[in-house]
Amino acid sequence: MSVTVRVPAKVNVQLAVGAARPDGFHDLANVFLAVGLYDEITVTPAAPGDGVHVTCDGPDAALVPLDGTNLAARAAEALAARYGRRPDVRIHIAKDIPVAGGMAGGSADGAGALVACDALWGTAAPRRELLDICAELGSDVPFSLLGGAALGTGRGEKLTALDVGGVFHWVFAMADRGLSTPAVFREFDRLAEGRDVPAPVASRPLLDALAKGDPDALAAAVSNDLQPAALSLFPALADTLAAGTAAGALTALVSGSGPTTAFLARDAESAVKVADVLRVSGTCRSVRTASGPAQGATLIPRERAG
Ligand code: C5P
Repeated sequence: MSVTVRVPAKVNVQLAVGAARPDGFHDLANVFLAVGLYDEITVTPAAPGDGVHVTCDGPDAALVPLDGTNLAARAAEALAARYGRRPDVRIHIAKDIPVAGGMAGGSADGAGALVACDALWGTAAPRRELLDICAELGSDVPFSLLGGAALGTGRGEKLTALDVGGVFHWVFAMADRGLSTPAVFREFDRLAEGRDVPAPVASRPLLDALAKGDPDALAAAVSNDLQPAALSLFPALADTLAAGTAAGALTALVSGSGPTTAFLARDAESAVKVADVLRVSGTCRSVRTASGPAQGATLIPRERAG
């Protein structure tokens, strides 16, 4: 008996960041779009008393922590604790989302393990409770469960689903090293010193562009307040952004806290062209195309799993 759940990556089409709060987090207006790059999380019962055991495969598997800090392990433990059962489970992560890339790969594994363990253990937790556990695990984890497109406020965990009127075609360029999200937020604070940081608000033109499914309007409206901080810590990302723009992308931005860079293309054909140019540009480690919105954490029927 095993259960497999597929969970998408995300790109932030808007990431408006406010001043640091007393708890160290930042208030955000965070417009998430789930895109079709996926991790698959498979859970299998372990012997009583064995606890949680995590394994991982995929191109970046060596970079994934397999101990109790892994969000998938923490999700299994959190659900077991709520339902007064032992978290004896084997979790396998088939990882395709870049690690430490600003695409919510770790969050995807947390949301996936939660949904998978809920099904495996028959806990049948209400969705509201699953979303609460996700919010405890990390700011981006609730969105990994939800998928589609959503506005995240608070520290990003309070979600309002958004309408999307079409398919957006993206190219993602992976860098040759990761960036730590806390380090990027610290750099944001350093760069903001002595300035008034306005309260973050969602952009009306951006929400309209999503609702219309209009790539040109979306390209004109995207923004990421963490981009200057990511570029300050990783200046070479500017070359990747420039290479994608020169290749015909409608716009280029750092994805979340980076260092993955995201390029919006007018259509699928244009995305392939931009990806081909980026691949030979020498400015990134690897390149993928993916479209969004994509479905959130989804159970895969047993015959298709594995
Ligand atoms: O919530 P999560 O654990 O994913 O956040 C990782 C880190 O990113 C936090 O410890 C904090 O440094 C930073 N962060 C923040 N404000 C947010 C979300 C994350 O400062 N809204």
